[in-house]
Amino acid sequence: MSAPTEPALAVRSDLAGLEPYSSPQRPARYRMNTNESPYEPSPAFRSELAGAISAVELNRYPDKDAHDLCEELSLHTAWPQEGISVANGSNEVLLHLCLAYAGTNRTVLTFEPTYSLHSLIPRMTGAEVVQLARDDIFEVDLDAAVTATRDLRPEIVMVCSPNNPTGVLEPLPSIEALLEEAPGIVIVDEAYSEFADPGDSARGLLEEHPNLVVTKTFSKAWQLAGARIGYALGHPALMEGLALVRLPYHLSALSQVTALVALRHADESMRLAAAVAEERDRIAIELQAMGVKTIPSHANFVLFEVDDPPGVWTRLLERDVLIRIYTGTPGLEHAVRVTAGRPHETEVFLAAMREILDE
Ligand SMILES: Cc1ncc(COP(=O)(O)O)c(C=O)c1O
Repeated sequence: MSAPTEPALAVRSDLAGLEPYSSPQRPARYRMNTNESPYEPSPAFRSELAGAISAVELNRYPDKDAHDLCEELSLHTAWPQEGISVANGSNEVLLHLCLAYAGTNRTVLTFEPTYSLHSLIPRMTGAEVVQLARDDIFEVDLDAAVTATRDLRPEIVMVCSPNNPTGVLEPLPSIEALLEEAPGIVIVDEAYSEFADPGDSARGLLEEHPNLVVTKTFSKAWQLAGARIGYALGHPALMEGLALVRLPYHLSALSQVTALVALRHADESMRLAAAVAEERDRIAIELQAMGVKTIPSHANFVLFEVDDPPGVWTRLLERDVLIRIYTGTPGLEHAVRVTAGRPHETEVFLAAMREILDE
């Protein structure tokens, strides 16, 4: 059968110019490009998980409200269960939020450069996205942000703290200023918050601000990127709206029990997150000693600047080290990002960088 040259139906006209999410993948021994944990779940975790999975009634649909998981997340976050919504990774949490609260004729404000899905997901739902540029040290320009919020009246303001790919933390007073000004909701994406000081989390603002939603993931600090589990914390009335856009039984019983087991092993995950944060600081200090400009990071990666990003990326890959490059992303013309991993990975990466810079 020969494929027709034209598709039977064109995609929606508002999607036509969009680029799908892309992150260059190559086979490499040292995968320091996608900000996952370098650590696998422990043997104790695995055997407990195996037991929990074998008890799952796979012939039945899962609990569509993930009641047990939300109950445990409520204890973990000290936030009411009715104010928690879980999904397949925080990407899907963001999709649910945008399906319910963005969409056609609505506006979403982002601060660029940031996680590319913060503009892509609202666009998928038909919303208009207004992208404000960060300043030259990648901080949100608060005056410009407050003015834009006042003028554009966006339904959603998207903040990423610590921000991907810069690692920059958004100070809580800035988030509060946006919460005061926003006519709609402010989403603070805290995918990397476990690598920062707990006191810097926007979680503590939830009680005072019914228009705040904080999103979290098990993909970065919890060694579970493959399991696809994330959640949102917000006012119960806001979370109730998400039930309208979630597919029934969206989160599999396997994912639900995996997250429950993970929460029982939280101390181990937080210990490993702290070890990764140490490697992040070591990478930054050593790169600076090589004369490389690094951006101060509170996440599990370091963004740094080089004259020739494609050249450095390629020469690292030749040495079996894969990092992240941002070809064509405004503001990141000279930037590359390396994910912090195990101590040995830090050493391999730093040795490769020394060689490359000496060439
Ligand atoms: C800022 C940010 N938010 C959300 C995500 C998505 O994470 P998840 O695996 O939970 O969908 C990522 C992944 O890279 C991210 O960097």
